[in-house]
Amino acid sequence: MAMQEIEVTINGTRYQEMAEPRMLLSDFLREVCGLTGTHVGCEHGVCGACTIVLDDAAVRSCLIFAVQADGRNIRTVEGLAHTGQLTTLQKNFKENHGLQCGFCTSGILMAATDFIEKKPEADSQEIKEMLSGHLCRCTGYDGIVKAVEKTIEENKKSVKELNT
Ligand code: FES
Ligand code: FES
Repeated sequence: MAMQEIEVTINGTRYQEMAEPRMLLSDFLREVCGLTGTHVGCEHGVCGACTIVLDDAAVRSCLIFAVQADGRNIRTVEGLAHTGQLTTLQKNFKENHGLQCGFCTSGILMAATDFIEKKPEADSQEIKEMLSGHLCRCTGYDGIVKAVEKTIEENKKSVKELNT
């Protein structure tokens, strides 16, 4: 199959690569760009492990062809702690037992990052609804919910402090 050129910005870095039109975005990120933080589980849009942020929406990269991302902006888990410092959300995952084997974690982190940016005042129910599309076989979800709740609390506190 003829290869096609794809140009994307991932975590602020420009990538210009060749890929077959049938290549999934999840495979493109991992195999062509070497960004293996995006995990692949079901490849059917069910588990959420492959979630990334494409432009301004959290999406499952196993349901998108790489060519569909041409010219677009992507955020993956590698972009979260790019300065070497964990984000507040990552810190709270660590402190609240939000992860165990880590297989689901990168997808959940990206979905939750996008969610918190869009819903900075979200309550527990909304957090649980957001997480309902992500499968985790280890944690029992409590630690994940707590990590997102704490992040929202801490962000609200910082905004309050900035405004006083
Ligand atoms: S690997 Fe994409 S949703 Fe499971
Ligand atoms: S931490 Fe193992 S699947 Fe979620």
